[in-house]
Amino acid sequence: MTVSSAPGKVYLFGEHAVVYGEPAVPCAIERRATVTVEARRDDRLRVEARDLTLDGFTVEYGASGDDRPDVDVATPLVEAAMGYVEGAVEQARDAADAPDAGFDMVVESDIPLGAGLGSSAAVVCAAIDAAARELGRDLTPEAVADRAYRVEHDVQEGQASRADTFCSATGGAVRVEGDDRRRIPDAPNLPLVVGYDGGAGDTGELVAGVRTLRDEYDFAADTVGAIGDLVRAGERALADDDVAEVGRLMDFNHGLLAALGVSSRSLDAMVWAARDADALGAKLTGAGGGGCIVALDETPAARTALDYTPGCEEAFRAELDREGVRAER
Ligand code: PMV
Repeated sequence: MTVSSAPGKVYLFGEHAVVYGEPAVPCAIERRATVTVEARRDDRLRVEARDLTLDGFTVEYGASGDDRPDVDVATPLVEAAMGYVEGAVEQARDAADAPDAGFDMVVESDIPLGAGLGSSAAVVCAAIDAAARELGRDLTPEAVADRAYRVEHDVQEGQASRADTFCSATGGAVRVEGDDRRRIPDAPNLPLVVGYDGGAGDTGELVAGVRTLRDEYDFAADTVGAIGDLVRAGERALADDDVAEVGRLMDFNHGLLAALGVSSRSLDAMVWAARDADALGAKLTGAGGGGCIVALDETPAARTALDYTPGCEEAFRAELDREGVRAER
């Protein structure tokens, strides 16, 4: 039996604009997806997902996928989750040159699904690492990141940046700009707070919406460029350990994302609750539409305010996770 885990992430700056080649700075947080893998004697795949949905699900089918049953609790999110797990298995089979390898897999995650915290990237990274190791093949974090990116790229029909998968595989705060990706050395452990509205956005739809807006209106193309400028300013603030400036830039970034139409009433409510509690800054994280915000607050005030904000289902402190994908067993 082999077990791997990989962290989720928040975007400090740059989601959406990163799709058009602007830089982004995601930051891994100490919330993980864990995948347990056991090789089978046959070529079948059995997946038990305990926390991907409220109900969880178990499915079993052959390597070709032809006899894949309908998942009882089928929702678009569960369907997507299956796509990510299947893609990860394909990558592990390819890495170990074992096209017919079968697995029993258990997926557990304490990262809200589809909510801007990189749950799918974490599941994919952990699953690739565990399944490849179960077949006797150790992959570097960079190799896991590359393979995980291919999976996200396929499942999201070509609309994925390398940000989530690279961040989850390597951990820490990272900088991604097109194909260039690297860790930010000595990133400060920022006092991050996450607020979660219990919902999820449809990443594909939101990315497509921004693309249409950008094609149609100059202001939207300019906004994408302005997010890029702001990310560069954010990198300087991080290098200078200027937490107040990081917060101010997060506020600006949220405003620009709202201009691109990807915020929502509950995300705005959580952002304002954190600001009213004197957070240094707050913004939505990830694709938007619903899901999570991230705030910067050195005191417990923003978290407490979020706990009492209608529409906020859960609020928690999120420590920077300097470790990426890792072997648990
Ligand atoms: O919501 P998430 O965690 O899947 O992040 C999506 C980030 C986007 O920039 C909107 C898309 C991408 O692939 O970078």
